Amino acid sequence: MVATSIEDRAQPAVLPRPPRRAQVRYLRTLLRDPQPVLDELRDRYGPVCGLGFGPARMAIVGGPEALRDLFAHPVGSFRWGHKFNALGFVVGDGSMIVSDGPDHERRRSSVQAAFSRKRLNSWIPTIVERTDAAADRLLASEPTGPVDLYRVGRALVLDIVVRSLFGERLAARAEEIGALFQRPQDYLESPAVRQLPHPFPYTTRARVRADRRAIDAIIDGEIADHRAHRVDEPGNVLAALVDEGRLTDAEIRDQVATLIGAGYDTTSASFAWIVWRAALQPGLWDRIGAEAEEVLGTPGKAIAIDHSHLARLDLAARTMREALRLHPAGAISPREAAVDVTVGGYRIPKGTLILWSAHLAGRDPDTWPDPLRFDPDRFVDRGATTADLAWVPFGRGPRNCIGFAIAQMELTLITARLAQRLLVTPTSHELPRPVGMVVNRPSGGAPMQVARRPAPARAG
Ligand code: HEM
Repeated sequence: MVATSIEDRAQPAVLPRPPRRAQVRYLRTLLRDPQPVLDELRDRYGPVCGLGFGPARMAIVGGPEALRDLFAHPVGSFRWGHKFNALGFVVGDGSMIVSDGPDHERRRSSVQAAFSRKRLNSWIPTIVERTDAAADRLLASEPTGPVDLYRVGRALVLDIVVRSLFGERLAARAEEIGALFQRPQDYLESPAVRQLPHPFPYTTRARVRADRRAIDAIIDGEIADHRAHRVDEPGNVLAALVDEGRLTDAEIRDQVATLIGAGYDTTSASFAWIVWRAALQPGLWDRIGAEAEEVLGTPGKAIAIDHSHLARLDLAARTMREALRLHPAGAISPREAAVDVTVGGYRIPKGTLILWSAHLAGRDPDTWPDPLRFDPDRFVDRGATTADLAWVPFGRGPRNCIGFAIAQMELTLITARLAQRLLVTPTSHELPRPVGMVVNRPSGGAPMQVARRPAPARAG
């Protein structure tokens, strides 16, 4: 087999790997609690190393140079529909996330076409309006104890994702949809042995299957309804996919389930990390609030907020970038090598499960000065630097996150508006431990004391 090295280097090296006796511990912990293991492996073996053996051989890829090589390889050098990809059971085998080749291209390009800049911009007022509604509800409940802002963020993100992608009618069922996604998402975080395929009834797997059928029934109803009465909402992605006509109904169903599933947990976990970081950094939450006050104006006053306002939320955007550097929602993302590949000077043989790590890249000590310090000013006035190669919470290249612009837009606007409206005091001075293999979130959520921020005195 010929290695598809993208650079003409000397003979690629064999991956460094821990001794056999340490492998089982590393593997077991990696699949349960990846971040400390990734850090330990990097410290001992470097940012690219091998793990596992036989059909379960893996390569961790976390150094920026190695990631640049990985993302520059032709997309056909990798497979996403591989034997370890458990996502297909939840999002459907027709989802772009578990597809390869022409199927992937067709599915992704249909969704991509529906994510036009114009459509994205049309969601901005919705995001601000729904954030205001969530803040109003929260303040009206006059909370006396801590509020879990992770939960608040989850409900808000789901509301926004469902409403902006699929319109007002489906938004009315956001809570029901969220409840149906809960079990499948918990299931994906459960130990791999519990996820082994089997046909037995009355098991968690059977219940997850039933939840997915219920989600399908809701989406089918929307597709049929759009065909019967043509929904005319400019932002509606489901309607755009039906009208475009390149995907079958089953494929549309799987992309819709994918967009909700991939967009909901990741964005809300990221929001929870942003709130923690902004609230723990002295004065940062207040400065974000002051910036929002200046850019977005008084809540409830009918100013048409658009992309020009979003572009001026500089501090909120930098805080989001810095939080995602240290806490990417996907600490590791899997793909299988379909051919031998060379990354960072190492040979990765065909059939290896590659776990590339945004977590390791974001903390790379050769790239980021004082990497563990939270400092949104790192991103002030920066042109392209090597650090850009190391900022990969959304991946890179043709398989990058299709929702990267939506997620960043949502996170910046939600953070800014909530900082403008709420005073928050964290219940601990310590950052929580990260949990979650599929989606990295703060253990225990984001419990904070919350109060109304007094309106600033205005001139005139
Ligand atoms: C902060 C939030 C988010 C983060 C950190 C994130 C991160 C990622 C990452 C790391 C990948 C995998 C790239 C790879 O395999 O190389 C990915 C893929 C994907 N994401 Fe996101 N994501 C986020 C939000 C969203 C949203 C809001 C949506 C949808 C509206 C979305 C939809 C997808 C889809 C469909 C894919 C698969 C793309 C493909 O296979 O072609 N994500 N995301």
